Amino acid sequence: MLTRNTGFPRFARNEVTFMRTPFIAGNWKMHKTIDEAVALVTELRALLEGLEGIEVAVCPPFPALEAVRQALTGSSIRLGAQNMHWEEAGAFTGEVSPRMLVGLCDCVIIGHSERRTHFGETDEMVNRKLRAALAHGLTPIVCVGENLEQNRTGKTEAVVGAQVRAAFAGVGAEEARQVVIAYEPIWAIGTGVPAYGPDANRIVRDAIRAVLAQLYGDEVAQAIRVQYGGSVTPANIAEFMQEPEIDGALVGGASLRAADFAAIVRQGLGAKMGRG
Ligand code: PGA
Repeated sequence: MLTRNTGFPRFARNEVTFMRTPFIAGNWKMHKTIDEAVALVTELRALLEGLEGIEVAVCPPFPALEAVRQALTGSSIRLGAQNMHWEEAGAFTGEVSPRMLVGLCDCVIIGHSERRTHFGETDEMVNRKLRAALAHGLTPIVCVGENLEQNRTGKTEAVVGAQVRAAFAGVGAEEARQVVIAYEPIWAIGTGVPAYGPDANRIVRDAIRAVLAQLYGDEVAQAIRVQYGGSVTPANIAEFMQEPEIDGALVGGASLRAADFAAIVRQGLGAKMGRG
């Protein structure tokens, strides 16, 4: 059984006590037909059977959500959507509302950089979606991250901090605890060039948790889970999970192969527990 975020396992590594349940999610993006999705998740389910101490989610495209939900019956693997609108219903052709996701899946990726870049999602839209997800009891995985130019010109902390601040506008402290943040440097996504673990850890600490602490205080800032995303593979997951501020990963390309994703989950958990 995979464990949920209720009842945090506590374990010590390097004298730091971890109270956040690790969480690794797969973002399948615009890949997999319904049949392919069911085949992938069926294989994944078998590979992860019996694993404890970590949450795992898969985020297939909308058309495959129902079939994957059925294929996951009785499994602790969580199911997420990749996007949603903030309105309950209305004249928004092509959009999917939070009400439609309730009962179908329990997480939703919000503000992925591909949505921001290709579909014009602004910080304000991300904030509306985040609040709508929380209002419907969905776990939002909200994505933040700088582009290459911002990184090279030393703007990473300012950009990421501002994205976090904007995303959480109007969100109360108790709701904020439910949010998962994915720090995904845009230059690392799909490039095969991941960030350096200690750099990602520093951004999570100095930009993400620092802003959360300003908004909600230290205790809430320490309770919110932050994933790293961008070219995560079985070969590099340990580098990220060894970092104290990083609680998991949002995995794109490598989540499309069951063996790779299962290896990422197992090695990620091992690294977080000091066995990496
Ligand atoms: P990648 O994608 O793992 O293929 O780099 C990550 C993401 O976009 O979430």
